[in-house]
Amino acid sequence: MPWLVRDAVEDINRAVGRRWQGLDRFLPLRAELPEGCAAPFVTTGANGRPAGLAVCRHEHVPAGTLNETWGAAGRFSLIVRVRDPDTAAAVDDLLGQWRDHLAGLPGTGDDDTAAMISWPARDVSGVNTLLRHGLQALTVIAVREAGTPPEPDAGLGAGIVIREAEPRDLDVVTGLEMGLIRYDAHFGATILRPGTEALVRAETRAALGARPAWAWLAERDGRHVGLIHVQPPERSGWIAGMTRGDATAYLQTMFVRRGERGAGIGAALVRHAHAVLDGRGVRVTLLHYAQLNPLAAPFWNRMGYRPLWAGWEVRPATSLR
Ligand SMILES: CC(C)(COP(=O)(O)OP(=O)(O)OC[C@H]1O[C@@H](n2cnc3c(N)ncnc32)[C@H](O)[C@@H]1OP(=O)(O)O)[C@@H](O)C(=O)NCCC(=O)NCCS
Repeated sequence: MPWLVRDAVEDINRAVGRRWQGLDRFLPLRAELPEGCAAPFVTTGANGRPAGLAVCRHEHVPAGTLNETWGAAGRFSLIVRVRDPDTAAAVDDLLGQWRDHLAGLPGTGDDDTAAMISWPARDVSGVNTLLRHGLQALTVIAVREAGTPPEPDAGLGAGIVIREAEPRDLDVVTGLEMGLIRYDAHFGATILRPGTEALVRAETRAALGARPAWAWLAERDGRHVGLIHVQPPERSGWIAGMTRGDATAYLQTMFVRRGERGAGIGAALVRHAHAVLDGRGVRVTLLHYAQLNPLAAPFWNRMGYRPLWAGWEVRPATSLR
């Protein structure tokens, strides 16, 4: 990396970290630029000095892994760091360089590929530029701080019981997990693969064996009607870096059967889980929802969550304009 770029990385990382804290206190305190597939793309400002940097990272998700259900198999991600609050011109230039880079790579035109960017939800300056390059906001990472009260309890119908999920619930929990995956597939947030159900079952078996439990079922008169499933902080490291470093858990599944929705079961499951998480020292909880899921944003907002990051994508990767 030439010295100019190395100095610029330090300088821009610091500036972006400060800018992020001004935008949203749940963003990471530091904005490190990771290693990319090649030297960073650089955009220069009016003064001739670097105004923004970006690196491209490639991930080829192996067939037969559960990760393949959460998105395209070939993932090309751009990590963007722009110094000034008005990001439009710098992002435009960096996206143009990335588009040309992707066009020259083998396989980037395959159906099962995506070009992806995570963008701070409150950094509204970049949104029009992302849209103009053909990217779509598909997913949201939402955040909740411990102790944030949800809306008051609207009351729960008689006959509803919430209890810890146990190893004997493997079939039921797998079925409810699959319900969410099928539902989210409507919005491009999941892709159902031939092996998905078997892989979900294997992961569920391992999760249900752990104690204390981090998954809870709602039952109506003995029939399973809803599930909430959380990854504890020790299994949430893969996403914890998207926020500021407190003990972070990831809420992986929230699903209520169709005929049972709108009766307060979802809210009751979330209240139950939050009380346990707060008691276990979890400071921050993250979750994903599909931007176009009509049930998700209002529900999570009532439960004390709000957007932290937006996941922008275009498929296949060479559709980036
Ligand atoms: C999102 C989901 C989990 C919510 O579960 P739910 O049991 O329907 O949630 P609640 O009943 O607590 O709240 C849903 C609605 O019922 C209303 N409600 C809550 N308690 C109520 C009660 N006692 N009587 C009548 N309505 C009630 C809420 O105000 C809310 O209203 P809305 O229509 O304006 O959104 C459920 O819709 C679901 O499983 N959706 C499909 C999968 C999904 O989207 N999961 C989340 C993805 S991240």
